[in-house]
Amino acid sequence: MERINKPDLNIARKRTKYEVETTVYEDAKNIKDIGKNKKYMIQTHGCQANEADTEVIRGLLEGQGFLPTTVLEECDLIIINTCAIRENAENKVFGELGRLKSYKRINPNLIIAVAGCMPQEEDVVERIMKKYPHVDLVFGTHNIDKIIEYIDYVMKEHKQLIEVYSKQGDIVEHLPQVRENRFKAWVNIMFGCDEFCTYCIVPYTRGRERSRQKQYIIEEIQKLIEQGYKEITLLGQNVNSYGLDFVDEKYDFADLLDDLAKLDIPRIKFTTSHPKDFSDKLIDVIAKYDNIMPFIHLPVQSGSNSVLKKMNRKYTKEQYLNLVERIYNKIPNVSLTTDIIVAFPGETNEDFLETLDLVDKSKFEGAYTFIYSPRKGTPAASYKNDITPEEAKQRLYKLNELVNEGYLRGNKRFENKTVKVLVEGFSKTNETMLSGYTENNKLVNFEGDESLIGQIIEVYVEKAKTWSLDGRVVR
Ligand code: SAH
Ligand code: SF4
Ligand code: F3S
Repeated sequence: MERINKPDLNIARKRTKYEVETTVYEDAKNIKDIGKNKKYMIQTHGCQANEADTEVIRGLLEGQGFLPTTVLEECDLIIINTCAIRENAENKVFGELGRLKSYKRINPNLIIAVAGCMPQEEDVVERIMKKYPHVDLVFGTHNIDKIIEYIDYVMKEHKQLIEVYSKQGDIVEHLPQVRENRFKAWVNIMFGCDEFCTYCIVPYTRGRERSRQKQYIIEEIQKLIEQGYKEITLLGQNVNSYGLDFVDEKYDFADLLDDLAKLDIPRIKFTTSHPKDFSDKLIDVIAKYDNIMPFIHLPVQSGSNSVLKKMNRKYTKEQYLNLVERIYNKIPNVSLTTDIIVAFPGETNEDFLETLDLVDKSKFEGAYTFIYSPRKGTPAASYKNDITPEEAKQRLYKLNELVNEGYLRGNKRFENKTVKVLVEGFSKTNETMLSGYTENNKLVNFEGDESLIGQIIEVYVEKAKTWSLDGRVVR
């Protein structure tokens, strides 16, 4: 029996009023220990939503006995959890799929699976079916909870299984998780996105915006606290619109943060905030609690009003700058970072200069910067775009110069000061040093004993560099 269920962007685009269904996960019936004596690896691309999904997939796999490995040759199962946000992210995955084929010669029973946002695109599924027959399993963002059943099918039938749903989506609670980090945890507070920024594929790949009920969020965080977690990051494509989809309850993101801050967790972070719904009530809650970190990622995308309008961002440059000012006034110690797209269709040099001006005025301490990448099925993909790739690269280069000044300025603020650091482990660049992040999300390297890992300690910052701080432990 063939099992092929392809995505449809037209269905994925639809939004209707309906009550989101929350179900509780139950183990796949009649499937037991299919991972016994087998090893798996997951490669994760894209944003924290994918990182969080990978932790669920690991939980499901390890529940069936699969063991993790970092050695490709040992794998019985390789899953690529993909991202569709820009073309180069997708090209990397296709390149990788080509390379992985040879590992089937080492292990003919190797299962190769593609998961995440790319399978939600019609083109991608067609291309895999035509050119990558060695891919055994393709599933999307709406049916991660069914992975065990899918793997069982592929093992028994030895047939390619494509199972992607285009729908608005529901919520499944109590999914098992194996977390990557022992001290920092992701906690989804919502799924999907209803913003439909004209360049962006996420509302099509992740479904409609839907919020988790607060009791499940609190329950999850309480468990994390019991396990010794020190930091949680609340996740959503636009956390500021948390709760707006609740039918008979008035409970928003500021209310949620206010409740979570009262729990015994030293550090709460959140990402991402859309500037349009950032209320004063929310700023006040962030300012009120010491365990809500003074670090806000506030993607602006452009400083030009005409570009913002074409992007469907729903705010102006002036409104954004006003928000930034309100945040600085109430949370003076805050670090702001942002996302910016250059060379959006129709962006003139004047528009670009507006972006530079906004970056200068906003005093960002970091930014992710991107060249616009057309995504099939989104409105902007059909906008006329005559910016040459060279011009786009030049804009990105100029922007990054300014952004990097912000990184250094942000780090310099902490020179000769004592900061609190959650010690994560040995430094990636120097294994004799420890490293961790400050409350403002600054990376610090310092000498210290291994026993400090997992603790929040005080570190004196001796030197600020563009990408990190050098410090020493305060005794
Ligand atoms: N929901 C988040 C971010 C999701 S994607 C938010 O709205 O802030 C992360 C970033 O990728 C976006 O902020 C945007 O800057 C960038 N991005 C999204 N689509 C893109 C595209 N088609 N081309 C280039 N960059 C894009
Ligand atoms: Fe994409 Fe905009 Fe939604 Fe962010 S808010 S995920 S950029 S559509
Ligand atoms: Fe990429 Fe999907 Fe996240 S497209 S950025 S992995 S929501």
